[in-house]
Amino acid sequence: MHAITIREPGEPDVLEYSEVTAPSPGPGEVLLDVAASGVNRADLMQRQGLYPPPEGASQLLGLECSGTIVELGQGVTTWQVGDEACALLAGGGYAQRVAVPAVQLLPVPGEVGLLAAAALPEVACTVWSNVVMGAGLAAGETLLVHGGAGGIGTHAIQVGKALGVTVAVTAGSDDRLDQCRQLGADILINYREQDFVAEINEQAGGADVILDNIGAKYLDRNLDALATGGRLAIIGMQGGAKGELNIGKLLGKRGSVAAAGLRGRPVDEKGTIVQAVREHLWPLVEGGSAQPIVAEVMPLEQAADAHRALDGSKIFGKILLSNAKSDT
Ligand SMILES: NC(=O)c1ccc[n+]([C@@H]2O[C@H](COP(=O)([O-])OP(=O)(O)OC[C@H]3O[C@@H](n4cnc5c(N)ncnc54)[C@H](OP(=O)(O)O)[C@@H]3O)[C@@H](O)[C@H]2O)c1
Repeated sequence: MHAITIREPGEPDVLEYSEVTAPSPGPGEVLLDVAASGVNRADLMQRQGLYPPPEGASQLLGLECSGTIVELGQGVTTWQVGDEACALLAGGGYAQRVAVPAVQLLPVPGEVGLLAAAALPEVACTVWSNVVMGAGLAAGETLLVHGGAGGIGTHAIQVGKALGVTVAVTAGSDDRLDQCRQLGADILINYREQDFVAEINEQAGGADVILDNIGAKYLDRNLDALATGGRLAIIGMQGGAKGELNIGKLLGKRGSVAAAGLRGRPVDEKGTIVQAVREHLWPLVEGGSAQPIVAEVMPLEQAADAHRALDGSKIFGKILLSNAKSDT
């Protein structure tokens, strides 16, 4: 089969469309003929050698995909050959075929086509596990989403609105904020021109939950932006990994800070998250209130262009890599 390989850590042109050995499904896994795979910011880090795959995972890029099941591993009874599905992956999505634990599969939601379904697993599982399962976001609260125009952000806006919360977002331009508003965001903050702490405190009395992709650089200001009893959920380190936590501020607000990665979790934990997403979030997708936001679809061979585009901060939502028919 063909897949994208990394010649050496570096810029996007290290990505090569190469012939590699196709995986075979182990016990509890299925083999998917990949229709499309989602491009995530983490892939850009992995390409640069800064985000190695967890032990036992495929060395290939790709944290989510959609496709058709072509083979069942031992013990898989809940899916059939020929079923269409989308999948949360620990790696391996930038390929024509991928082996994935069956518990990490989700059905392709009703109105969402097979291709577009590739844009959902990573954002759905990340947003649901951090914002709802972790931070306990509830109707009537205020959610602040940093990077509202990104893949995670565009999904978080929709989930927040579907759950009946006030959604505030930060983004790097007024055009991107306007697109966030069209998705339902209520409070729009241009992080290049405005102080998000002042804005969220003035407009909403602070945030009950903050979904943060910046990490260290925003840690102290995020505490200032929390309402009493607020929960800060850190999922990214675009602004660095090491910061100083002002425990006095956190204590005064009776707040909490959590940070969680999805990729390194054991399969059973991922299965629990996928099951919760299927039960609670998939009906919102089926009902149309949380849709995949696909900015561009490119052929798998053009993975380097996709990485350049995502890095350019012009993509609203997600980029997908589509597969021509499998040659295996
Ligand atoms: N922990 C986990 O399990 C997990 C899972 C998935 C993703 N993530 C993380 O979540 C983040 C988003 O991932 P993604 O795939 O959605 O990436 P993406 O589509 O590239 O989005 C990145 C976002 O960061 C925003 N941004 C950049 N500088 C900012 C700043 N100073 N303040 C606020 N926002 C800023 C960008 O906003 P503009 O483009 O408007 O400038 C953009 O919307 C990444 O850090 C990723 O590693 C974590």
